[in-house]
Amino acid sequence: MDEKLIIFDTTLRDGEQSPGISLDSAEKLEIAEQLARLNVDYIEAGFPVASQGDFDAVQAIARQVHGPIIAGLSRTHLGDVDRCWEALRDAEKARIHVFISTSPSHMEHMLKMDQHQVLAETMQGVERARSHTMDVEFSPQDATRTPLDFMLQVLQTAVDSGATTLNIPDTVGYGIPWDFGALIQYVKSQISGNFVISTHCHNDLGLATANSLAGVQAGARQVEVCINGLGERAGNAALEEVVMAVKIRPDQFPGISTQIRTEELARTSRLVSRLTGYPVQYNKAVVGKNAFTHESGIHQHGVLMDRETYEIIDAQSVGQKGSQIVLGKHSGRHAFSETLKNMGLEVHGDTLNQAFFRFKELADRKMEITEADLEALVADEISSEASNMYSLAELEVGGGTVGTPNARVVITKGGERLEARADGNGMIDAAGKAIQIATGLQTNLVGFTVSSVTGGEDAQGEVVVQLAYGEFKVSGRGVSTDVVEASARAYLNAVNRLSRSMARKDIRDVEVGP
Ligand code: KIV
Ligand code: ZN
Repeated sequence: MDEKLIIFDTTLRDGEQSPGISLDSAEKLEIAEQLARLNVDYIEAGFPVASQGDFDAVQAIARQVHGPIIAGLSRTHLGDVDRCWEALRDAEKARIHVFISTSPSHMEHMLKMDQHQVLAETMQGVERARSHTMDVEFSPQDATRTPLDFMLQVLQTAVDSGATTLNIPDTVGYGIPWDFGALIQYVKSQISGNFVISTHCHNDLGLATANSLAGVQAGARQVEVCINGLGERAGNAALEEVVMAVKIRPDQFPGISTQIRTEELARTSRLVSRLTGYPVQYNKAVVGKNAFTHESGIHQHGVLMDRETYEIIDAQSVGQKGSQIVLGKHSGRHAFSETLKNMGLEVHGDTLNQAFFRFKELADRKMEITEADLEALVADEISSEASNMYSLAELEVGGGTVGTPNARVVITKGGERLEARADGNGMIDAAGKAIQIATGLQTNLVGFTVSSVTGGEDAQGEVVVQLAYGEFKVSGRGVSTDVVEASARAYLNAVNRLSRSMARKDIRDVEVGP
C-alpha cells in the first residue's frame, strides 16, 4: 500500500504574508473551500493572535470548511496558544502549530532569550497545545541556520511534550537540496518517539520545491506548501510543483502518493491569483498559461503526432484544459447561475444580478465565454460586493494623439455617489487620478500589468495594479474587454483593499511575526 505524503497548505497563513496581500474573511473562506475541493490534508488558516481579522477568518474556516484538518499558527506563549485554540475549537478536526525561533541570530535579536529559555518555552507551548488537541505540530524557526545539537535538543523536547509533527522550516531559503535532505534524514534518525517529519521551504534561492522533494526522499511525510508558490519574500514551495513531481516520478518517490485532486490545480491557482492580486507568471510550472503551449514548429508537430513527445504532464490532469466554451450570448440567467454552481462558485442576490448583467455585456462584446472568463468576471463582482466598498458606476474617457487625455468617473459607496474628472498622461492615468479625487485617497501607482484572460481578438483584458499609500502596499485586479475600464476596476479594487487594510491596522501587531 502507498505511503501518504501529507499536504499541508499554508497559502492562507504564510502565503498571505506575501507583500501587498490582504485577504478578508470572505476571501479566505472562498480559498479554503477551494482547497477542500482540491483535497489538501491540512489548511493552515492563519495566525489567530495576530489580529482580530486573522482570528475571525480562522474561526470562520474552522466552522464552515469540511474535509481538511484546520490548523492555526501560534507562538509558545500560553495566551497565544489558548487564543489559537479558541479560533479552532469548532473545527471537525484541528491542529495547533506552535513555533519558536532557534537560530542564534533570531534568539539574540528577536527573542532575546538563551537556549534554556527557548527549551522551556518549547515545553510550555507544546504542552499547552496538547492540552487542547491531540494534533500538535512544532517548528523551530530558522532551523537551517540553527546549530544541529541545539535543534535536536529542542525537537526532542517538543516530542516529549506532546508534538506529533516536527516541521523543519528553511525560513530564509538557505537550504541546498542534498544538504537539506541529509538534515531531514539525520533529525529522523536522532529523535525518538512517534512523529511525522515535515518540510517548510522558502524560495530565496529558487530551491524551495527541490528542497521539499529532497526532504520527502529523505523521509519527510508532510510538505508545507502554498498555491502558486506564494509566501514571505520569494515565497514557499509551490503546492502544484511538489504534488506533480511526486506524481510524475514514482521511480524517485516509490510508494509515496498524495490525495490531491490534481484536476482542481489550475482553478485553485486562478482563484488564489485573482483574490490575492498576485499574477501567475506565464511560464510558471504546471499552472502557468504557457505550461502547455508549444511555440516552435518542431514541437507543435511532435505534440500533434503524440502529446508525450514534448509534454510530461497531461494538461487535462491538472485542469489546464478546463477553459472550454461554457456560455454564449443567448444563455439565460438560469444557465448562468447553474454554470457558476457547477464551477463551485456560489453567488447570490445582488451580486448574482450584477454578475449576470456584466455577463450579458461581455457576451455582446465577446463571442465565446469560457470558464476562465466567468471566473474573472464573477470574482470582480464579488470583490466589490460589500456595501461599504467603492464600485464603478460610470467611466467616460477621452484621449488619442490630439488634446489632453481625460476621464470622468462616477463611483458609488454605500448609496453615496461620488463623481470626479481629471486629466492625465493617458486615459488610464486620467482614470486613476479621477478615482483618487473621488475617493480622496492619494495613492501612488507602483505596479501595473495587463494580460488577456483567454486568447483571441475579443479576449478580456486583465489588469493588476499595485498601489502604495504610506506604510501600505496593496494590489487590485480588474477585467473587461476594454483595458481602460479593466484598469479603473483594478484601481478601485486596490483602493477597497487599502480601505480594509487601514481599518485593520492591527494586522501583524505582534512583536515577533513568523
Ligand atoms: O518560515 C517559517 O519559519 C515559518 C514558521 C512559522 C513555520 O513560516
Ligand atoms: Zn514560512
